[in-house]
Amino acid sequence: MVEIPEHLLQRSKSARERLTGQTPSTDSPSEAVEPQEAAQSVETNSPSETPTKQIEEIPVVEDAPYVNAAKTRNKIPWWAASALLCLPIWAVIYVGTLERPAVEATGVLQHGAEIYAQRCASCHGANGGGGAGYKLADGEVLVTFPQMEDMVEWITKGSDGFGVGNSYGSPERGRVVAGGMPAFGDVLNAEEIISVVLHERAVFGNSEEAEIYAEELDHMIEAGEIDLDMYFDAESVTTSEIASIIENTH
Ligand code: HEC
Repeated sequence: MVEIPEHLLQRSKSARERLTGQTPSTDSPSEAVEPQEAAQSVETNSPSETPTKQIEEIPVVEDAPYVNAAKTRNKIPWWAASALLCLPIWAVIYVGTLERPAVEATGVLQHGAEIYAQRCASCHGANGGGGAGYKLADGEVLVTFPQMEDMVEWITKGSDGFGVGNSYGSPERGRVVAGGMPAFGDVLNAEEIISVVLHERAVFGNSEEAEIYAEELDHMIEAGEIDLDMYFDAESVTTSEIASIIENTH
């Protein structure tokens, strides 16, 4: 017969005691066998308690008022739940409707805003407030150029094209060329100059006419009815030539 060593017997005995929750016998002091457990049972102050017992004894915390309210209030009725299920479908349809204005935002007004930021804002201010160049905001641009074709010609030719000392814009405004405005006829094509002019007139001049024209131009470009890829010739272009192009793009 095989002799089971005394220390193994002792270990299985204390394991059994641990599982059944019995108080260990005096010959196996709990401090020695289960020091961890002793450390955990500070709250109950009885080092011999088993971990299972401790969990059971955690005091039941009363629900906070808002938890109680959540538990006791009426639940969502079945028909409302099915309505909620339709929300994602509605969301997809709604997002679809948002796509239409995005097409317009890529039109000539948007294009003009981009060109303005790249080519003009450094001198005339990000919001047209002025700087090295005149202020264009608060309608100032329309006071100098009541006619759109005159403005297109000015931007095409610049100060040098008009010649220092000569007048430009509306006679009532009385502007005289002092120099410093670059010519854009070689840099921007017709579509780009018209776009930046429409942007300035619509945004800085609050011109409804410019907005309507921009919309009409968008339709014509989209339908492939107009091609404005050519450049205005800064040397020879005339106001009436520009005016007729503008006329034809309405
Ligand atoms: C390097 C600076 C500079 C840049 C860049 C510039 N401008 Fe000018 N702009 C001027 C100056 C300076 C004047 C006045 C010119 C003069 O007196 O000869 C002027 C005048 C004007 C005027 C007439 C304003 C008035 O009330 O008399 C308009 C309109 C204008 N610029 C539009 C533009 C547009 C559009 C762009 C971009 C495509 C642009 N400018 C880029 C400096 C600039």
